Amino acid sequence: MAATGSEIVAIARALPSAGLERLRTRFEVRVGGLDADRERVLAIAPGAAGIVADPAVPIDSPLLDAAGPTLRVVANFAVGYDNVDLDVCRERGVTVTNTPDVLTNATAELALALTLAAARDLGTAERDLRAGGWSGWDPEGWLGIELSGTVFGVVGMGRIGRRYAGLVRPLAGELLYANRSPRPEVEDELGARRVELDELFERADVVSLHVPATPETRSMVDRDRLGRMKPTSVLVNTARGALVDAAALADALRTGVIGAAGLDVYSNEPGVEPELLDAPHCVLLPHIGSATRRARDGMARLAADNVIAVLGGRPPLTPVG
Ligand code: DGY
Repeated sequence: MAATGSEIVAIARALPSAGLERLRTRFEVRVGGLDADRERVLAIAPGAAGIVADPAVPIDSPLLDAAGPTLRVVANFAVGYDNVDLDVCRERGVTVTNTPDVLTNATAELALALTLAAARDLGTAERDLRAGGWSGWDPEGWLGIELSGTVFGVVGMGRIGRRYAGLVRPLAGELLYANRSPRPEVEDELGARRVELDELFERADVVSLHVPATPETRSMVDRDRLGRMKPTSVLVNTARGALVDAAALADALRTGVIGAAGLDVYSNEPGVEPELLDAPHCVLLPHIGSATRRARDGMARLAADNVIAVLGGRPPLTPVG
């Protein structure tokens, strides 16, 4: 069905058809394209009533100026919204939404996969095999870190942190978490114990990050915190690159301050800090935490439904800010 309304929705980059078609039946939809640069996003914004963004699209004053007074909603196609200047949106009466819940399982599962892949250095083992570097079963080759019965530390006990905690519970000897507020229901259900952040870094064999990037959490994993970790510990980050000082992490891996790291996110995506590319015992993925068909379709539908609700004069389903 073709669009009947005159309102414009700008998809800054791309949106899976599960959401795109919902918008196309109701609005005039402009799509920037996956390789849209800032100039292209600014070019499709004028007159838009809704913008669908993603973590790679900064939503700031210049973009809101380009959209103009018609803009009523920014629907972020992600659960994280550190790309959005919430103050500027609030000042202009623009509603901001995100896509929680629908990607919780996918992201927690990827964090589990990265935990195991980093602990057993699967990236190196697979690269070596493909390069012809396997000459036979080797009693001392590709030795990894065994996690059964060890201490798992979950930083941030929101939806994804909690799901990750549930997934690793059968492996963990002890489950620690750090969170702004206590989560008694998680303590009852999983036997998790809340500790201060520094204690978590000191005691955990695996530290997995599940907090948003905010001024308070930026570089929370710095040289000092890495120095508190055990030499056989594993750091996993599926949240945001800004949480970790990449140079300090690369040094920690090179000098054996920690044992391994599994990363899905970086400070300046799609750039990856060169130090990390060279670091040993480090599994690197291209921000694929929510990359399952089920999660991405759920995110696309939710982003579209948020736009449809706000432009239809109804409350958004999942507002932020
Ligand atoms: C999010 O939703 O914030 C993810 O990083 C994108 O998958």
